[in-house]
Amino acid sequence: MMTGMAKNDRASWLKGASNECCLLPAGVAKPWRLVLLGAPGVGKGTQAELLAQHLGACQLSTGDVFRAAKTADPCERTPALNQALDYMKRGELVPDSTVLGIVRERAKCLRCRGGFLLDGFPRTVAQAEALGELLAEHQVQLDAVVSYELPIEQIVTRLGGRRTCEKCKAVFHTLTMRPKVDGVCDHCGGALLQREDDRPESIRVRMEAYETSTRPLADYFQRQGKLVTVSAEGTPGEIFQRTLAALGA
Ligand code: AP5
Repeated sequence: MMTGMAKNDRASWLKGASNECCLLPAGVAKPWRLVLLGAPGVGKGTQAELLAQHLGACQLSTGDVFRAAKTADPCERTPALNQALDYMKRGELVPDSTVLGIVRERAKCLRCRGGFLLDGFPRTVAQAEALGELLAEHQVQLDAVVSYELPIEQIVTRLGGRRTCEKCKAVFHTLTMRPKVDGVCDHCGGALLQREDDRPESIRVRMEAYETSTRPLADYFQRQGKLVTVSAEGTPGEIFQRTLAALGA
């Protein structure tokens, strides 16, 4: 376990398996392999960043893959990926077949020597079953599935105030994680924008999709003895410490 590790550029994950990450994690004493579960806006991405720094594991977010595709050359996008971006904009889940195609193509990331933090995948029981098969195929095992819990009113506040840097993708919040200068990223000076799917009509659809398709995964992983439930109340630092304690990390 290490602190303050250099951030991997996640090229293999974000741009596809034919790309090599420029900063592969050094060998860590124990590679952690975790799934982060929880409603949209509960703070999974924020925790993934903190955990990645501390454990040396790579953040593998399916949402980030779609957002990276959005800014890529349109000629490089497959019709399925274009469709996925439309689902995402409306707040609906992208079809399992598209998501699984993307994850399978990047399966080498599951064998990364630094471990991994799956963020936003799996989101349906079919995806969870496919993940189980992929892990068995690559002879790796999940250590735990961390499920973050927070009352819905607080989740909606977190989503409504989120602002993301258009350049480096750093995440801020208009109330709880304010940049030094309003609307400007502390790290690279880029403009801070609201995500298309953080508008009220998309938030409602995302919450419904979570309740119907993703919440049942808690029972699914509980039956496998992998589920660790963590309260997402409080500051990011408090939740991070709670997570480490729950994992015994
Ligand atoms: P995805 O990118 O995975 O988004 P999400 O699950 O909706 O989660 P978010 O990124 O919105 O929230 P988060 O929990 O990471 O919160 P964050 O840390 O940013 O998916 C987007 C879309 O892609 C989906 O809707 C779907 O269309 C598609 N998709 C992706 N994967 C898919 C899959 N597997 N299957 C099908 N479709 C898929 O925090 C939120 C805000 O709160 C931030 O502003 C942050 O600064 C603030 N904050 C965080 N922690 C705290 C705290 N402790 N106190 C106060 N504020 C805090």
